[in-house]
Amino acid sequence: MSTPTPFTALQVMQDAPVIPVIVLNDVAHAVPMARALVAGGIRMLEVTLRTPQALACIEAIAKAVPEAVVGAGTVRSRADAQAAASAGARFAVSPGYTSAVGQACRDVGLALLPGVATGGEIMMAQEDGFTQLKFFPAMQAGGPAMLKAWSGPFFDVMFCPTGGVTLDNAPEFLALPNVVCVGGSWLVPADALALGDWARITQLAKDTQNLRK
Ligand code: 3PG
Repeated sequence: MSTPTPFTALQVMQDAPVIPVIVLNDVAHAVPMARALVAGGIRMLEVTLRTPQALACIEAIAKAVPEAVVGAGTVRSRADAQAAASAGARFAVSPGYTSAVGQACRDVGLALLPGVATGGEIMMAQEDGFTQLKFFPAMQAGGPAMLKAWSGPFFDVMFCPTGGVTLDNAPEFLALPNVVCVGGSWLVPADALALGDWARITQLAKDTQNLRK
């Protein structure tokens, strides 16, 4: 099998206004959920490594939904990065930043969107060559005002705010010049998964398409 072309973090961020943050507890949900998001125009999918089924879900999506680009969220260690890449993830998202995670993702060929919440973390990530970052938890750590403050000293960094972002407050983030996209869990509600309500997930994805002006 040929190796797929690696994505960059910027490509992952530019593809759609929202990166869905997905929590899956049942492998049977993975493929129909991914198809539902793709049908709604979203193909960069962050499946979080928070459940025992997460890696199997990534593998199922990578195999059965070629239109989707599946990534792993909640990558916190070298072992997470290796397991994600082995399962077929094409990018990684971390809730915070360490050089060990940065290097591990490079070693396994995964684009990384590292999480940061402080100036010190931004500087560490930049030192290691990462300039597209996830601002997490965005609302709790200062929201749009924090990103405006960072745009001065960190004028060369682009962000994906995630955490407390909703369809209602996403436009305020997306209007900022240092924001490329946002992340959020609202596109894949637990009850829609439990009910197999794939049409609702498609509609939630479609609802985000005009967020970026
Ligand atoms: C997370 O990692 O849980 C994400 O930041 C999602 O946050 P949200 O549920 O507030 O969208």
